[in-house]
Amino acid sequence: AVTHRHKWEVNYGYKSPDCYKKLAITINGESPGPTIHAQQGDTIVVELNNALFSENVAVHWHGIRQIGTPWSDGTEAVTQCPIMPGDTFIYKFVVDKSNTMNMQAGTYLYHAHYGMQLTAGLYGFIIVSVPDGVLEPFVYDHDRSIILKDWYHASTYEQATGLSSIPFGWVGEPQSLLINGKGRFNCSLLDSSVCNAKNPECSPYSLTVVPGGRYRLRIGSLASLSAMSFEIEGHNMTVVEADGNYVEPFETKHLYINSGETYSVLVKADQDSSRNYWITANVVGRKPSTPTGLAIFNYYPNHRHKKPPTVPTTGPLWNDTASQLAQSRAIKAHHDFVHSPPPRSDRMIVLLNTQNKINGYYHWSLNNRSLTLPATPYLISLKQNFNGAFDQNPPPDSYDVENYDIYSVHDNVNTTSSNAIYSIKFNSTVDIILQNANSMTTGNSETHPWHMHGHDFWVLGFGNGTKFDMVNDPKGFNLVNPIMKNTVPLYPYGWTALRVRTDNPGVWIFHCHIEPHLFMGMGIVFEAGVEKVGKLPKSIMGCGETKRLINP
Ligand code: C2O
Ligand code: CU
Repeated sequence: AVTHRHKWEVNYGYKSPDCYKKLAITINGESPGPTIHAQQGDTIVVELNNALFSENVAVHWHGIRQIGTPWSDGTEAVTQCPIMPGDTFIYKFVVDKSNTMNMQAGTYLYHAHYGMQLTAGLYGFIIVSVPDGVLEPFVYDHDRSIILKDWYHASTYEQATGLSSIPFGWVGEPQSLLINGKGRFNCSLLDSSVCNAKNPECSPYSLTVVPGGRYRLRIGSLASLSAMSFEIEGHNMTVVEADGNYVEPFETKHLYINSGETYSVLVKADQDSSRNYWITANVVGRKPSTPTGLAIFNYYPNHRHKKPPTVPTTGPLWNDTASQLAQSRAIKAHHDFVHSPPPRSDRMIVLLNTQNKINGYYHWSLNNRSLTLPATPYLISLKQNFNGAFDQNPPPDSYDVENYDIYSVHDNVNTTSSNAIYSIKFNSTVDIILQNANSMTTGNSETHPWHMHGHDFWVLGFGNGTKFDMVNDPKGFNLVNPIMKNTVPLYPYGWTALRVRTDNPGVWIFHCHIEPHLFMGMGIVFEAGVEKVGKLPKSIMGCGETKRLINP
């Protein structure tokens, strides 16, 4: 195992990923940022200098469990104080000592975990390959990666202000979809100083393939809002990896992908090689008003930017939830890599997902609690017993299951903002049932991709437009070959059931990966085995009550 050292400067920069010039947050001048490559067991060191002159930053390593280094998780207010302007912070972690038996070579992500800086463009890939001599359960000749993003022209500061104002200002649908940081916006009505269709920065991404080649394509999404369907015209894809876990292979024409998910698919370049093909990304799950995201599947030696002779597909119907659900249900652990979950759980937490108003402000809540983050990071206040740093009354494990009608609009007048956390027994098995419901709009329930820090969980089952039945639904759980993931969708009016072993000491956030939803409180924080966490580095301190630890 070796150590990879990276020096990052996080700064503002004007970017035109879809031809429209906009202020973005960049790493070493780039958005998406540089890809981190490593082998399983290697150590990554990122020396991050915050060159943003007017705001803090923190960066999360999405899917990396941070075993033994919970303070490197990069979650502001949970595991560290934010990095202040001008400061340098060193993230150091291993990818990944395996504590459970599941392997961790695979496809991961990183992104900002502060304010709305993911939406502003701070994101990228972490690609972890298997150690030398270890074989993967599939073969390919070439390894390529594609990161998906939705892109907004409004400043993220205005977006954040709208979300926390009366009247409420929703961010709306994105202006474009980016494939490897490139998209297209119709500039025809705008001045070329603002939007220039000829800017090479926004010429579509082109993936060059050799005829007959076998490709592993790693696809990750760090969308702010949009779920997408991804397609390569005329080519089927075989899904083989999900969130760093091997999948029992299945073939599909289009891949649904939510923010925070990663997949590897195998693609064979076996079509008519005299032409190019469209790679497309389309919004699903919400009524789209964003044009199709385009890239080119380029057969060598055709010109990279030669347009395919066809009209790009607009993909499957945005509201075909059944087909999205069918994909989720098709994702099972590869038969040689099955790690069966414990047959029983020690505790069940049912989380009702609702939209609410608190004092006239819109929020998202779980069991009538909307998450607000404290000034002192939980990891530090728990280790130091700063009992006053956050609300000590734990949030509820369930809601009024009997009486709550998930199909109607509720005022949920008892909802409060809270920074209380769940305390979960170390090395125990917990079932989490995510229960969807109607939002504050009649006849509307949204898809939420839920992401857990510090753990992979087993995906035990999905409910299709129903309330979870405590007696009968657990009988249908897949305890034989469930996939392990770190991000999973919750579909409209449905439920999603997870099982997790709390085997990683620390404090972890579990939240909706839609950045504006997290901003509006859609998450919970839990602690397990925090007393087993080693000595905290001073570098994570300096805010809230931790000031007195560094300047006694
Ligand atoms: Cu990728 Cu807490 O997020
Ligand atoms: Cu959400």
